This record gives sequence, structure tokens and C-alpha cells, in this order.
Amino acid sequence: ASAEQRASEMALAAPTLPPLRAGAAQRQQKTFASGWTSKDGTLEQALKGCARCAIGCAATQAVPGEGPLDSRVMMVGEQPGDQEDLEGRPFVGPAGQLFDAAAKEAGLDRAACYVTNAVKHFKYRVERKRRIHERADRSEIMACIWWLDAEIARTQPALTVAMGAVAAEALTGAGKDVLRRCGTIEEVENRPPILITVHPSYVLRARGMAAQRDARQMLIRDLRCAAGYLVDA
Ligand code: URA
Repeated sequence: ASAEQRASEMALAAPTLPPLRAGAAQRQQKTFASGWTSKDGTLEQALKGCARCAIGCAATQAVPGEGPLDSRVMMVGEQPGDQEDLEGRPFVGPAGQLFDAAAKEAGLDRAACYVTNAVKHFKYRVERKRRIHERADRSEIMACIWWLDAEIARTQPALTVAMGAVAAEALTGAGKDVLRRCGTIEEVENRPPILITVHPSYVLRARGMAAQRDARQMLIRDLRCAAGYLVDA
């Protein structure tokens, strides 16, 4: 009965403005509806506008991989952490420092590898003003695999190294039993061979000196194997 009155109130009311990000989000959607190709600019430029899932809304920036675009080895982590999100570079925080130290011990030249993540934005929750890492869910990992596959297609590495469960899930479709699979090379269709290993933060989180030493040795052993792929067979 009051529809007419409500309709005229609506007509007189100020328009509802779209949220601030709506314009940008729409432009991004367009980019991805048509699909990015190298003709549209660099992968890194396109990644800046990624809206394939919602994680990016709360992150500072997307973090692309870095390293030689023709590297024979692609190291794949989980997602940027707090520091990576701020700096825009992969593996520069505590896990990155551990990775660097382990790589050095394994004789793997980080600068010769392409280093990237399965998920390109930092997913977190806020607790007492601190940003706490949250694992990306399967739909987010699957939304982001598009970028990882684009990086793989561009670099065509001889070996990818999945560091941890999220990278293993992205690259092989299965993220379980990483410890059992550690050190093995898995094959899936349309991707280069995948060496499964632990994530550097698994080493950081290991409790007790013996557990930490064992986890570190496992990572070093696998990085040594990866180093063998840097040189042409
Ligand atoms: N952990 C990751 O998986 N990747 C990073 O870049 C940093 C921490």
C-alpha cells in the first residue's frame, strides 16, 4: 500500500554511490574476461589489477615472481607474507632469509632461479593490530594458478619446486602428505616436473633443535637436487 510513497522517496533520495574500488574492479574484470596475453603488457603489470579472487582487496599489492625469465628452476612458495606484501617482492621476510641460507648451503644460486608463489596476494586476519597469515582456500589457490601457469609458460623451467602444501596443491592438485612426498619429483600433465619439498617456514616453526635440524636438512637436500637442474643436462 505504501509502494507509491516509497517509490517517490527513492526518486528524491541521493543516489547510492558505488564503493571506491568499484571502478577499478570493473576495469580489472574486463582485463580478465578477455584474458591477458603478452600483447597487453607485462604479466607483472596485468597482475597489479588482479581481481580473480577477493584476497587482493585487503593486500597492499600483488607480489609477482622474480628472477631470470629463462631460468631452468622455478621455486614456488605459498603466498607473500607481511613483509613481502609491503615490499612487493617474494621471500624477503623471515622465511625468505631461511630460504636464502638453505639455498646457500645447498649450493643453489637464488639469483639464477625464478622465485614465485602459488598465491600472489597476502591473505591475513588482523589480531591486536598485527596481520596474521591465513592459508588461502582451494578456490583462491585455483583462481591464482592462472598466474602461476602464465609464469611457467613464459619461463618454461626444467623443474618447478613446490615448497609446502599450498604450492604442492597448486601444482599437482594434491596438498596432502607433503612430508611423505618430500624429495620426490611428480609429473602432471602440461606442467614441468615438480619437486616436492617443505616450506622454509616449516623449518622455522619446527619445535626443538632436533626437529628443526631435520627439517632444515630435508629442505637443503631438496634444494641441492634443484641446483642440479640449473646446469644444462
Ligand atoms: N612465504 C611464502 O610462501 N612466500 C613468500 O614470498 C614469503 C613467505
